[in-house]
Amino acid sequence: MNSFSKKVILVTGATGGLGKEFCRQFIADGAHLILTDLQKEPLESLVKELKGSGKVLGTFTGDVSNAEGAKAIYESTIAISKNIDVLVNNAGIANAGEFAEIPLDKVELLMQINLLSPMRLCHHFLPDMKKRGTGHIVNISSVAGLVPMPGGAPYSASKFGLKGFSDVLRTDYEPHGIKVSSVHPFFTKTAILDSARYGSAKIASAELPDFLVEDPESVIAETIRGIKKGEKVICPGMVAKSLDVSRRFFPELLNLMNKYLG
Ligand SMILES: NC(=O)c1ccc[n+]([C@@H]2O[C@H](COP(=O)([O-])OP(=O)(O)OC[C@H]3O[C@@H](n4cnc5c(N)ncnc54)[C@H](O)[C@@H]3O)[C@@H](O)[C@H]2O)c1
Repeated sequence: MNSFSKKVILVTGATGGLGKEFCRQFIADGAHLILTDLQKEPLESLVKELKGSGKVLGTFTGDVSNAEGAKAIYESTIAISKNIDVLVNNAGIANAGEFAEIPLDKVELLMQINLLSPMRLCHHFLPDMKKRGTGHIVNISSVAGLVPMPGGAPYSASKFGLKGFSDVLRTDYEPHGIKVSSVHPFFTKTAILDSARYGSAKIASAELPDFLVEDPESVIAETIRGIKKGEKVICPGMVAKSLDVSRRFFPELLNLMNKYLG
């Protein structure tokens, strides 16, 4: 795909740090956007600021933390357009701490939002894509879905799960003309870095020097280039790429880094 001109793209978590950047860059490239998030006002102000050759086809609030919410998002989307070219499963939350100190209801909510919701949305949208013989699923995992994130057992579990899910979907649906990309950014300056922390464990993101934290604009620019090329696994930024290489070829180096961070 050379450009997103007139491609219909659904973005969840559209008003978050990475979501907004997706919207800005997709619309600049001519995409036709359908946007959803939890709250109405941020969606309205986002629409006002978006500029480019593309357009916003529609917005609606939706909650991806349960099955009914995912179904409602599917129904609201197809009421706007039946032909979704790209589904970006971007909504997500984080929490951190020693695992047994994170309340179980928070662990379960995170798994619902970060893992079950993308699975549910894919379940809804894939039959339409398969019928049309085209489509692209983009699942926003994390570098924590490739390497363990110290102090982030639920988050890593959800993002490793999303990576595994994406890998199997790709094998199953590529023959039907559907592409699947998983995206694995390193820590990036958005609200998610201020997520709830539990207990006394040292948390990786709190220890990071500023120069190591990525900026959303460049992370999403690289991600979008990867989506256009149909890349299967996208690791935007040097740190994400280095961690991916370390995990594959120098696992001991990775253990050392984790000792420093954890
Ligand atoms: N920022 C990072 O360091 C980083 C790194 C790797 C991966 N990610 C992933 O990128 C994605 C976007 O995160 P972000 O950094 O923009 O964080 P963010 O907190 O700025 O945005 C997350 C968005 O998800 C939405 N959301 C949360 N719960 C929801 C629910 N129940 N229903 C509907 N929407 C809901 C929020 O309203 C918000 O707009 C997430 O999946 C996150 O895990 C972020």
